[in-house]
Amino acid sequence: MSTILSIHNLNKVYASGFQALKNINLKIRKGEIFALLGPNGAGKTTLINAICGIVNPSDGKIIVDGFDIINDFRATRSLIGLVPQELSTDAFETVWNTVNFSRGLFGKAPNPAFIEQTLKQLSLWDKKNNTIRTLSGGMKRRLMIAKALSHEPRVLFLDEPTAGVDVNLRKDMWEQVRHLKNTGVTIILTTHYLEEAEEMADRIGIINKGEIIVTENKTDLMKKLGRKQLILDLKDPLGEIPAPLTKWALAFNPEKTQLIYTYDSTKDDNGIAQLLADLSSAGMTFKDIHTNQSSLEEIFIQLVKP
Ligand SMILES: Nc1ncnc2c1ncn2[C@@H]1O[C@H](COP(=O)(O)OP(=O)(O)O)[C@@H](O)[C@H]1O
Ligand SMILES: [Mg+2]
Repeated sequence: MSTILSIHNLNKVYASGFQALKNINLKIRKGEIFALLGPNGAGKTTLINAICGIVNPSDGKIIVDGFDIINDFRATRSLIGLVPQELSTDAFETVWNTVNFSRGLFGKAPNPAFIEQTLKQLSLWDKKNNTIRTLSGGMKRRLMIAKALSHEPRVLFLDEPTAGVDVNLRKDMWEQVRHLKNTGVTIILTTHYLEEAEEMADRIGIINKGEIIVTENKTDLMKKLGRKQLILDLKDPLGEIPAPLTKWALAFNPEKTQLIYTYDSTKDDNGIAQLLADLSSAGMTFKDIHTNQSSLEEIFIQLVKP
């Protein structure tokens, strides 16, 4: 798959002296949904704003579809659409005028058919003559997307599209984003909701304290990190693992009152049935059995812990 955005050795030090981005290297593939996941203050907005030309990089290079965001500013600006974290619109303007005007700002010729199609796609067509102040929160968010799409960008950035949005609206937003992907737009969204990255993304990048610490296909990431444990509470503490069981990768808890078997929950044959049979032949008895799954939430917390 071809690359539509590449970031090379990007650093950002704010005027305060605070370094918000540390040597970022990242490639985004054409047509994918990439979720940039990280806790508050990680640098997500700074990174997006640097790509969109709102924040000046301290050094490094950003290329969008072959164009340098600094030397070829006009070209990259028209390739990019941004839905910023803070929503701002003119409350007394109509939906239609807002989106149409936004297109004009990019120097594009008017295209009422395209604006109509965009508003329909975002379920805003019947609100086209409404003033913005009469829209619900969800409609306002969709309007921001329509505005960002007005000049037909190839790459759309959504900075925390569902922060503070209720569950239904969030699902609605996810639906809209999937729909956009189907129209061929590359989508980069930031979120601090793990669930959102899990639900939406083809690939996930985890950013923490200005550094990208992981980029991985979502399914690979979940597989790699989606380990499960079978925990067996022993009747009597054991000194060591009995010889017939050494072929199993078993571990003790520190008190040696539990045997722990770690397995890949995504595999059909996880070995549990055979292990239990072997334990039984070895004459081992247990008080209790339970399982423990490292959730993505735990993994995330582990990765970004201070
Ligand atoms: N204009 C600025 N001047 C100095 N520091 C800033 C500025 N903007 C953001 N920061 C700091 O940079 C860090 C990253 O911020 P931001 O990119 O907004 O994070 P995120 O979007 O992941 O929550 C934070 O510590 C924030 O306080
Ligand atoms: Mg932010």
